[in-house]
Amino acid sequence: MSKIIAFAGKGGVGKTTVASLVVRHLTTTGRTPVLAVDADPNSNLGETMGMKVTTSVGDIRENFMKDPQGIPSGMDKAIYLESLMNQAIIETRNFDLLVMGRQEGQGCYCMVNNILNNFTEDLSASYKYMVVDNEAGMEHLSRRTSGKVDMLYLVTDYSLRGLRAVRRIYGLLDGLKLTVKQIGIIVTRGPEKLSDVFLAEAGEIGVPILGVIPDDPALLEFDMEKKSLLDLPPSSPSVVAVDHLMEVSFPY
Ligand SMILES: Nc1ncnc2c1ncn2[C@@H]1O[C@H](COP(=O)(O)OP(=O)(O)OP(=O)(O)O)[C@@H](O)[C@H]1O
Ligand SMILES: [Mg+2]
Repeated sequence: MSKIIAFAGKGGVGKTTVASLVVRHLTTTGRTPVLAVDADPNSNLGETMGMKVTTSVGDIRENFMKDPQGIPSGMDKAIYLESLMNQAIIETRNFDLLVMGRQEGQGCYCMVNNILNNFTEDLSASYKYMVVDNEAGMEHLSRRTSGKVDMLYLVTDYSLRGLRAVRRIYGLLDGLKLTVKQIGIIVTRGPEKLSDVFLAEAGEIGVPILGVIPDDPALLEFDMEKKSLLDLPPSSPSVVAVDHLMEVSFPY
């Protein structure tokens, strides 16, 4: 069974950036095989890791719904759909990427959704780690991780507003069909020493701060030049911070 690592937090705080750097950490330390899952419909996890994404599970599902007669004769529907979904996995030398894309359609596609759930559960047998990058908000997290997360990182920028979003998300967890084994806060673009006010507000939430990622100008530069974050030098402050955070806090 894979260990599932997921991220949640307000829009734009750095979830995709940290998820990419976690993939980088796992692969550079030999903790493979890794499946990176882009579960944000405005997907860009692949992009930040320098990959060209051409199809998604959502596209495949839509096409299948539009033309269910396209199944080769004599082939079982479920097996056919699963083989199509396998085509959405992009393989690289160090890890694989699965882009979920848009999932919501009209009506109940129970059969298709069941196959999709089985598919993600089957994948869990093939990878040691799954790194799931989500959209802001939590609504879909339970559905996209087969209801189980080993480590949920709540990402916030260095602001009280970001922390309040973390508090809200943390409060939503009870109402979700989601088992979370461990949970912690990551602060992005934070100073070396967090202010007392920030620490006090975080303390009230009752979730430990596991690490702080400093502001790293190289991230903007790589974004502008469309370079993969996997090619950042190992000495980049954001890389150093994520490597350290993973080594000290992740239950390998
Ligand atoms: N530690 C950092 N230092 C400097 N820039 C950063 C840092 N973390 C993230 N950024 C920048 O902030 C922007 C938003 O980051 P990112 O896309 O990772 O956020 P997100 O939470 O995934 O956003 P969304 O909610 O839209 O998916 C990017 O341009 C990224 O390069
Ligand atoms: Mg993102």
